Amino acid sequence: MLQRADALLSRYGYCSRKEARQWLSEGRLRIPSGRITDPAVKINPADVTVDGAPVEYPEGLFVKVHKPVGYVCSHDPAEGPSVYDLLPPQWMRRNPHPTVIGRLDKDTTGLVLITDDHQLVHRLISPKNKIPKVYRVGLDRLPDAALIEIFAAGTLLLKGEKTPCLPAAITEVSDTVCRVTLHEGRYHQVKRMFAACGFQVTALHRLSIGAWQLGKLEEGRWEVVAFPEK
Ligand code: URA
Repeated sequence: MLQRADALLSRYGYCSRKEARQWLSEGRLRIPSGRITDPAVKINPADVTVDGAPVEYPEGLFVKVHKPVGYVCSHDPAEGPSVYDLLPPQWMRRNPHPTVIGRLDKDTTGLVLITDDHQLVHRLISPKNKIPKVYRVGLDRLPDAALIEIFAAGTLLLKGEKTPCLPAAITEVSDTVCRVTLHEGRYHQVKRMFAACGFQVTALHRLSIGAWQLGKLEEGRWEVVAFPEK
């Protein structure tokens, strides 16, 4: 898509729209036919170099991150280290800003998806799409058949809520560790569902969101992934 030269520099996090004039007058933005100095000229980001390097991910950014314990999924620096700190700083200056699809608590680890495509965010968090999220859960005691049944029934009502949780599957039980698959994303949902049944979650780790798996991605690392089909 064609973009104004000044808007492009701001869109991909090089500088503010105000600073763009200076960048352009310094001849830092080029297309194959030469320098672009006029902020209003419309250009294709895929044709552009800035300081000699092509624009990164002109179609949008979509990454998976392995969130370590102690990191928050927030843009507020007062809340402590953030998953956004794990990404290249220029990406975080892109407009729209990259944002997490489905937050994790500070003490939860595992897969987080981040994108600057806000339509994709809405698509993946929309309750009507029921995207499965799989968690590995450590518990304070052995999960039993009654618990598995309650989760599967789709009748569990959490404190302060009016609609019961959608059916959730507990699988691969091994001692006090199990897998849980949810098809929605309510606030602290895993911990609250177990707490409502008298269990305490001692460790929580997200393994996948839809088709995206954490795989072997190391803690604190990110990897660019392909956008899903529209
Ligand atoms: N459910 C929780 O309780 N916490 C998370 O971080 C994710 C799901």
